[in-house]
Amino acid sequence: MKEFDVKTKIYFGEKSLERLSELDTDKVFIVTDPFALSSGLIDFVTTPLEKSSIKYKIFSDIVPDPPIDKVISGVAEALEYKAKYMIALGGGSAMDTSKAIRKFATKIDGNFTPKLICIPTTSGTGSEVTSFCVLSDAKNNTKIPLASEDMIPEEAILDEVLVKSVPPKITADTGMDVMTHAIEAYVSINNNEFSGALAEKAVEICGQFLLRSYSDSNDAHARRKVHIASCLAGLAFNSASLGLNHGMAHQLGAQFHIAHGRANAILLPHIIKYNSEISTFSKSREVYPSCVRKYCNMARILGVSNLNEVTTINALVSYIQFMMTQMSIPLKISELGIVSEGEYMEKVEEMADAALKDACTATNPRVPKRSEVIQIYKEIW
Ligand SMILES: NC(=O)c1ccc[n+]([C@@H]2O[C@H](COP(=O)([O-])OP(=O)(O)OC[C@H]3O[C@@H](n4cnc5c(N)ncnc54)[C@H](O)[C@@H]3O)[C@@H](O)[C@H]2O)c1
Ligand SMILES: [Fe+2]
Repeated sequence: MKEFDVKTKIYFGEKSLERLSELDTDKVFIVTDPFALSSGLIDFVTTPLEKSSIKYKIFSDIVPDPPIDKVISGVAEALEYKAKYMIALGGGSAMDTSKAIRKFATKIDGNFTPKLICIPTTSGTGSEVTSFCVLSDAKNNTKIPLASEDMIPEEAILDEVLVKSVPPKITADTGMDVMTHAIEAYVSINNNEFSGALAEKAVEICGQFLLRSYSDSNDAHARRKVHIASCLAGLAFNSASLGLNHGMAHQLGAQFHIAHGRANAILLPHIIKYNSEISTFSKSREVYPSCVRKYCNMARILGVSNLNEVTTINALVSYIQFMMTQMSIPLKISELGIVSEGEYMEKVEEMADAALKDACTATNPRVPKRSEVIQIYKEIW
């Protein structure tokens, strides 16, 4: 038996932040990152709250790739303040921290059951609608993806005004995270008609609007579209889960602090070739792995469908690399200039072992061998 539901009520478009002035409470606990405070983004949340005389406490000790100790201090503050609503304002790091804070706080105090409202300020993770949260274990250089139904936010607010300030580099990285979510969910062994429809729309929007959004942050229409695509892709992978791309990207983030979306982007062309068993030199044949048909659908949606499966898969890979180049995302880890070849290669086996254990890898369409994962890590150097 399969099931599909959307547990999060989504407010979107103009004036959607007004929802905050309607909350039936006198105080809220806000989890946000330091950028939202210093840039004044926080005012978009506090103004509607103040309009309705709702008090608030702000927890802003958030860092990218949230480590467990930040969650622990957030839990202590949330339990002390005991607000009926928690509001997360920020990228995946702030939203994931808030999900973990709520989960652990309610575990400690069973009478404390705050509702969670997630308000993304990047268009990338889709965390505002998912049961996932990715924490970092800094001591062991690993990322821990947690998944549980009780982490799904009750509400999400998508307002493109919050992503206007995202610089091109972060637009590029987070946008490629959206593409990867949609494509991985689409070929996941748990894919279904509902997740498929969401993933197709997310890819269609990214194909039309991601480069526009990257090249002009004032293009409100493109920003709005990509912000919605991010949420659609989140709904898709919340149902279908992800795959080896994310399983491997998590290790690149944990070991070398490569931005999550950037790590996904660098891997994506290689994972498509690996899963489809098609490379630049492949000849066309009678039978292909079933994910090939799905990748070909994505190529069609992106307008790069070609003569046959082999040429279409190669066109899809080239198109993804074209998008990356247009957005100045390096195609190789070596081009990032953050780690030496020796240091990188020394970690490859450890990363491969962790990637095989990563929960995302379990739904990849091709069951990866250790030697194959090592080979892909070497290829992307
Ligand atoms: N829960 C999930 O389903 C899920 C899915 C994918 C990724 N993740 C996790 O989410 C994290 C990545 O999230 P992210 O890509 O959104 O990045 P992020 O939250 O780490 O933010 C990246 C940077 O962007 C800045 N920023 C955020 N909003 C901004 C804005 N409006 N203007 C200017 N700068 C802004 C932040 O201050 C930060 O410096 C990773 O830890 C990843 O593992 C979670
Ligand atoms: Fe992701």
